[in-house]
Amino acid sequence: MTEKRKSGITLSIVNNKGGVGKTTSAVSLAAGLAAGGQRVLLVDLDAQGSASLSLGLTRVDLHPGAAEVLLEGHQIRNAVRKSLVPGLDILPGSMKLASADLALSDMKGRETVLKTALAPVLSEYDFTILDCPPSLGLLTVNALIAADYFIIPLTPDYLALEGLVNLMEAVERIRAGIGKTAAPLGILLTLCDNRLNVTEEIGGMIRKHYGRLVFKTEVRVNVCLKEAPSFGKTIFDYDAASVGAECYRELTKEVLRRVSEQ
Ligand SMILES: Nc1ncnc2c1ncn2[C@@H]1O[C@H](COP(=O)(O)OP(=O)(O)O)[C@@H](O)[C@H]1O
Ligand SMILES: [Mg+2]
Repeated sequence: MTEKRKSGITLSIVNNKGGVGKTTSAVSLAAGLAAGGQRVLLVDLDAQGSASLSLGLTRVDLHPGAAEVLLEGHQIRNAVRKSLVPGLDILPGSMKLASADLALSDMKGRETVLKTALAPVLSEYDFTILDCPPSLGLLTVNALIAADYFIIPLTPDYLALEGLVNLMEAVERIRAGIGKTAAPLGILLTLCDNRLNVTEEIGGMIRKHYGRLVFKTEVRVNVCLKEAPSFGKTIFDYDAASVGAECYRELTKEVLRRVSEQ
């Protein structure tokens, strides 16, 4: 059976909350796709630059990056660089992105700056993954407009469902306000600790409410996922046999399946 798969797909990893596993998921999914032979571009839209640093870039490697491309008209081709992972390129994030929302608000076509900036290189990649900052500001709006799909990573804590409902409504408002933007590809439960009742309880509530939209894969708490970035390594290079690596291999397969079914 030949698998039907579209190429040139852009995925945004979105949640206005921090610490829910956006960056870990963006980096690990990007690396998982690259390991399967896909050409992948990871775009780091967070001022912390965590995705870039996780892939072994140092602070001096962060410029020129996404900020220079979006805010200063820098050519994207000169800002994208190869990571140590074969097939995985990165457009770095940096502190300069901290003022991006303000700077973008004065620009013409302020919601489509990222889409326009990415256009020249998109065809060179099977997947472009956008790691968003923890807000629904203009950078995230740009990411939702530039993407075909979005993924929401979420930790199954108390109040997670309420936060998710609000986030989905906010994304819907953005979609309604500006026409075609990304469609939901899935909700990803992250930092799941099966020893805790809350994981099962809240995870179950989210599955009941959102049904098939929730990925079957649950990313479990795994210390290797926390350690790998400090070595500048992806989870697959740090410990391919870890639970974290297994979870993100499963997620990669599920994402490929979902995208091919759309
Ligand atoms: N499954 C996991 N197990 C253990 N630690 C994790 C896991 N996912 C993320 N982390 C850690 O939790 C913190 C927040 O994750 P991160 O991906 O940076 O979230 P976000 O980008 O949403 O702020 C980081 O220190 C990261 O290493
Ligand atoms: Mg992050």
